[in-house]
Amino acid sequence: MNFLTFNNVKFSYPAVEGDVDENGNQIEPPVIFDHFTAELPTGFVSLVGPNGSGKSTFMLLAGGRIMPTEGKIWLFGKETSEITDEEKNLLASFVYQNMEFETDENVFELLNFVYTNGGLKASAKGINDESKDLLDEIKSVFELVPLKDKKLNALSKGEMQRVLAAFALLYGSKSVFMDEPFFACEENQKDVFVKYVRDYCKKTGFTVYISMHELDLTRKYAETVMLFYPNRDIDLGTPDEVMTDECLEKSYGIPAAMLKHSELMTREQLKGEAELKL
Ligand SMILES: Nc1ncnc2c1ncn2[C@@H]1O[C@H](COP(=O)(O)OP(=O)(O)O)[C@@H](O)[C@H]1O
Ligand SMILES: [Mg+2]
Repeated sequence: MNFLTFNNVKFSYPAVEGDVDENGNQIEPPVIFDHFTAELPTGFVSLVGPNGSGKSTFMLLAGGRIMPTEGKIWLFGKETSEITDEEKNLLASFVYQNMEFETDENVFELLNFVYTNGGLKASAKGINDESKDLLDEIKSVFELVPLKDKKLNALSKGEMQRVLAAFALLYGSKSVFMDEPFFACEENQKDVFVKYVRDYCKKTGFTVYISMHELDLTRKYAETVMLFYPNRDIDLGTPDEVMTDECLEKSYGIPAAMLKHSELMTREQLKGEAELKL
């Protein structure tokens, strides 16, 4: 069975009421994807490309969180519009960029809850060390012990991201879509976390789609890269195939040499830099 199929998908966000041009006519929102047909792979897949190139929209469509305007999407052989909410979380969990929770339970209570009530039924072995339980390993890798008694709404952004990644891996769904899941974490943590998620995929056959700004980590760890272009073209292949200087320059609109050293800067800052140096 195929993991993920897009068939002739068209998508635009809904028109905003009251959003009118100078003649009072409704402004139609731009089409984000059009006639998009693709067969997408399993494994550890990294989505890269400049802001606004469609990475988040692609993941929301793929994970069945938004529906195509036209065309169809199948996830694990099921059409996304026919998957119930309950089934959705077991097929594809989602780590959004901004998630908020109303709960009084602390981090460890919630980790236990997720591990017990998801697909793993509180029984899985560690990825790095099979003699360990997965829950203990994840608490250690994502540095969760210092957070154990804290409530979710008392966490900093980076702490929250560590907890959410742990939830995603402990829930035991068949795949997970993570939208810039580690942007607020420290550089050395990002490397450890991305590597761990990649190893988790390799070891268990789990599929993770992750968008991130770090081209170096993508090159280092991704099995497959999706490179998004501002015109909504998408290249798909291994890091070596897709992350050529030529393709990166075309996607980001700035020289590849600058991208390599300035991945933390925004595209606007980089453009400013590029102009200064010319
Ligand atoms: N909720 C929304 N409503 C309207 N337009 C949106 C919304 N979210 C994203 N867009 C637009 O869709 C395009 C793709 O955005 P997005 O998928 O968020 O890109 P990326 O994740 O690569 O930054 C952009 O032009 C963005 O402005
Ligand atoms: Mg995004």
